[in-house]
This record gives sequence, C-alpha cells and structure tokens, in this order.
Amino acid sequence: MDAPLRLGIAGLGTVGSALINLLQNKSETLAERCGRAIIVTAVSARDRNRDRGCDFSAAKWFDNPVEMAASEDIDVFVELIGGTEGPALDSVKKALEAGKHVVTANKAMLAYHGMELAELAENKGVLLNYEAAVAGGIPIVKTMRESLTGNDVTRVYGILNGTCNYILTRMEDEGISFEDCLADAQRLGYAEADPAFDIEGNDTAHKLAILASLAFATKLAPDEIYIEGITSITTADIEAAKSLGYRIKLLGVAQKTDSGIEQRVHPTMVPLNAPIAQIAGVTNAVGIDADVVGELLMSGPGAGGDATASAVAGDIADIAKSRPGHQHGPAFGAPVAKLAPYQRARMRSHEGGYFIRLSVNDRAGAFAAIATRMGESQISLESIVQQEPHTSSASADNARTVILITHSTTESAIREALENIRNDGHLAADPQMIRIEK
Ligand code: HSE
Repeated sequence: MDAPLRLGIAGLGTVGSALINLLQNKSETLAERCGRAIIVTAVSARDRNRDRGCDFSAAKWFDNPVEMAASEDIDVFVELIGGTEGPALDSVKKALEAGKHVVTANKAMLAYHGMELAELAENKGVLLNYEAAVAGGIPIVKTMRESLTGNDVTRVYGILNGTCNYILTRMEDEGISFEDCLADAQRLGYAEADPAFDIEGNDTAHKLAILASLAFATKLAPDEIYIEGITSITTADIEAAKSLGYRIKLLGVAQKTDSGIEQRVHPTMVPLNAPIAQIAGVTNAVGIDADVVGELLMSGPGAGGDATASAVAGDIADIAKSRPGHQHGPAFGAPVAKLAPYQRARMRSHEGGYFIRLSVNDRAGAFAAIATRMGESQISLESIVQQEPHTSSASADNARTVILITHSTTESAIREALENIRNDGHLAADPQMIRIEK
C-alpha cells in the first residue's frame, strides 16, 4: 500500500463531524478501495472544547485554518467552514498556493470565487473537488463534469435547497407553520448558518451558478440570476395550489436561449403528477436536458451531515486513488481559459400560466373590476375562485381571498394588470403571483 493520504479538516460542524465519523467507520473499506489509508492528521474549528460526537484526538489542532492549510502535516485541505469569503476563502487559497489538493462543500465561495480558485488549482496541478457543494449527496458535479462531456446541455434545473423543500413539504402535509418547519430544518442540520440564504433563494442561486457553468462551459455568473425565495408562500397558497392540481416547489432553472443564458430561482407551481412534484422533504432533484443522452433526473438527499459527508468522502477518495504523474482534470470541466464569457439572455419574461392570490376588499363590483383589468391586459382566465372566509389568508376583516389561474400569458401583462387592480383600490394586501410550469 502507498503512504496514507493525510487530511486537514477545517470546520467541525454538522458536516465535519459526520465526515470524521464516516472516515473512521469506513477506514478499512476506503483503504482497500483507494490502495492507501486516509487519515485525519489535522483539524481546525472555532471552539476546541465543544462536544461534537466525533473523535479527532489523534489529529493536530490548529486555531487558525489558514495556518493549517499550508502545514507540512497535510496533503489535502478539506474546507467545511462556509461563507463566501473570510477564513474559508483565505485558507483555500493558501492551500492551493501551497500545492495541496482541496475538497470543499462551500457553494457560496465557489459561486463567487470559483474561477480564481480553479485557475490556481490548474496552475499548481492539484485538484479542487466540490461534489458536496451542489445538491448534497447527489453526484451531480461528477455527472456533469465527466459523464456528460460528449453532450451539449440545453437546460439544467432542479430543487436545489433541502431546507426549502422540507419546509414546503411539511407545510403541505402537516399544516405546520413556516417558522416551525424552518426551526426543525435548523435543528436537523439542513439550514445554512444564516437561514436567510436558504429561504430567500440565495443558496439555490449559488448552486445554480455552479451547475450553469458546468452545463454551458461558461464563466460563473452568480449576480446574473433572478432570485425570489419562499418567504411569501403561505399555507393558503399551498392548499389552493393543491386543490387546483399543483404543488409549489422552489426551482432553480438555467437554460440556453438564442440570446444567451437565462438563470432564475423562484417558487413554481408544478402539476401534482410531474416527477419533480414527487420530490419531498430534504430531497433534492436535478434535471438535465442534453442533446445526446436526452433527459436525466437525479434525486437524493440534498442536505444534512451524512449526505454531505458522503459526497466529501467521494472527493477525498478520488484524490487518494490518483497517483504521482496523474493528470488532474480541470475543476469546471474545461480549463478556465477555455470557458466562454457569460452572456446573459435578453430578459425573457416567463410565458405560461400564473397563479394569483388576491386579498380583495369585499364590496360590490370588485370582482367585475378585477376581471375587466385582466381582460384589458389580454389575460385570459382559466378559473377564478373566492375562498370561504375561514380558509382565507386575507389580512383585513372585510377582505376575501380570491385565487385566479390564468391561461398562458406574459409576466409583463400580469404585472400591468396587478398594478391597475392595486391602483383601483381593490386590494387589502400585496398580491401573490406564482409561475406555473406545465
Ligand atoms: N442549506 C442547504 C440546504 C445545505 O438546505 O440545501 C446543503 O447545501
């Protein structure tokens, strides 16, 4: 057997602890499969004395992850700290500069600094592996980077945030409030340190930016993404969607258009019988449309210690299996210099049906005026339903909830009609608008 592969693990939270347990529990299997042992020789975290449910007593402790990154004690730097910049970025740069391989689960850092880091890894001839950064335990990065090299991808989309899908599923199945579902997602180790990243759609956007770069061989463009999260979704929306044959999912979608690439993250109503509607709880799903293979849909656990540690361990094993002289593939599928500049598609508004929830002041003529405004904007209505007051989410006593489903129309038409209805003084609260994907 070759000399052991020595890991330095920075960050001993949910994922770091699960990784240490995995490496210990599977040490013999991993050694057999990789032809060498994988050992943790160094660790770094904020608080040395916290009980983490894992044993790292044999490893050297570093208060400073940047110092550990360049240490002679390690061959691979495993970054599980999180955060777009700060110690995570500083230590990853340091490790790459020192010629260490890097494994990271940090999607925010990669979305914003992935090109610079990939270039550094290329120049140093080391690996930058990040399977755990996108869709937790689903091996989507390797699939896109390696297995689909012979394809041209036209669209990549999916449920990319376990916390949001967990919240939406439990709100629908158990009628539990948004806040209680989020608290459970935090307790289970699914949510980001700042859960606003989950529920406001940024985490999905970070992952989408990485998928888009892999899919279309372009530079990362996290700031070119239209983002709407799930904070405005109520149990009333979920119930109304269900009664109409739909389920609400937070989707990230990146697709090639004639004028460039479109990236968007927003709540979407999908038909109850669509495969993506069956993805429940913390599960993620990633769909890929490509010219040769056709349509793929991969699903699996998208967050949590074990799911993420599984992906990190796979990345570590790849490094352990490589041997001196082995040429490492580029982090984003092609060398950074060969990745095309990102070209944003001309703003195409979503064309399709819309779900609209209005809280309408209950007075004579309001319905007729709303229908007229819709007609003036050339919007054809598939259905218009007034909910019974007891199921209503209307905010004022004399307000009623009205659900409209439109036939295919454009976003600009919807926005124009809603603006007119608001100016007519019929609304008691801001309208809710959710795009429908057939
Ligand atoms: N907070 C993330 C999620 C963790 O809920 O999906 C995995 O990236």
